[in-house]
Amino acid sequence: MSPEVKPDFLISPEGLRIDGRRPDELRPIELKVGVLKQANGSASIRQGKTYIIAGVYGPRELHPRHLTINDRAYLRVVYRMATFSVPDRKRPAPSRREREISMVIANSLKPALFLEEYPKAVVDVFIQVIQADGGTRCAAINAASLALADAGIPMRCLVPAVAVGKADGKLLVDLGDEEDKYGQGDVPMAILPTTDEITLLQQDGFFKREELVEAMQMGINSCKYLHELQKDALKRVYAKKPSDGEDEEYEDDLETDLGDAEIAGDE
Ligand code: CDP
Repeated sequence: MSPEVKPDFLISPEGLRIDGRRPDELRPIELKVGVLKQANGSASIRQGKTYIIAGVYGPRELHPRHLTINDRAYLRVVYRMATFSVPDRKRPAPSRREREISMVIANSLKPALFLEEYPKAVVDVFIQVIQADGGTRCAAINAASLALADAGIPMRCLVPAVAVGKADGKLLVDLGDEEDKYGQGDVPMAILPTTDEITLLQQDGFFKREELVEAMQMGINSCKYLHELQKDALKRVYAKKPSDGEDEEYEDDLETDLGDAEIAGDE
C-alpha cells in the first residue's frame, strides 16, 4: 500500500468532495442482518471502505456477578479494531480509545432498549472493526442496533448514527478517513428516530454556534435516511415470505418502502 499523502484540497472548485460526493451525501452503505451463525443476533455494515461486524449474545447470565444490576440487564459493549484494520498495525491489547468508544456506543444504544425486562442478566454486544476508514463509532452503532433487533431484544426503535464534519469551511456528512484526518472537526451523533431524541453527540474541532446547529440538522436528516436503510435490511430477512397469489402485493409493499428511502436520501 502506498503511504498516505495529504490531499491538496478536500473540496474541489466545483464543490465536490475528494471521493466525488456532494456535502450532504452519505457513502455507499450496505447493511446485512444475520451474518454470524454462533451469535443470537448479528449484522454487518459497509459504509464506504469502513467494514464492521456486530454480534449480540444474550440476554444471559452475567459473569462476573458483582456487575449485576438488580432492576435491569447490563448492556456490555466491546468495540475492537482488528490489527489489520488500520494502515499502522493496531496493537491487539485494548486501547483507551477502544474502551471509550465502547462506552459511548453503549450509552447511545441504552435509551432504545427495554433492559428492565431482563433484571440481573447481561446483553453482550461485540463489535469488530474489520476495516477502518473513518466514522467507525457511528457505523458500529448502525450495525449493533440491527444486531440487537436480530437477537430479539425488545427495543423502542433502531438507532441510526452518522458523523457530520467540517473541511475547507464546509459542513460535510459522513466523513471519510482523509476528511476526518485533515478536516477541521467532526460531530458524531445518533438519534432515536421515533422521538428525535439524541443519544450521542460528541464534538471534535471548532464549530461556530450556527455551524453546529446546521451540522446537527444535517446529521438528523442523514440518520432518518439511515433508519430507512436499517428497516429495509431487517425486512429483507424478516418480512413475511409471500404465499402463492400474494406475490404482487408483497412486491408492491417492498417497492413503496424502498421508494420512500430513496426520496429521503435525495433531501
Ligand atoms: O472512527 P471514528 O471516526 O468514530 O473515530 P476516530 O477516533 O475519530 O478515528 C477516525 C479514524 O482514524 C478511524 O475511523 C480510522 O480510520 C483511523 N484510525 C487509525 O487509522 N488508527 C487508529 N489506531 C485509530 C483510528
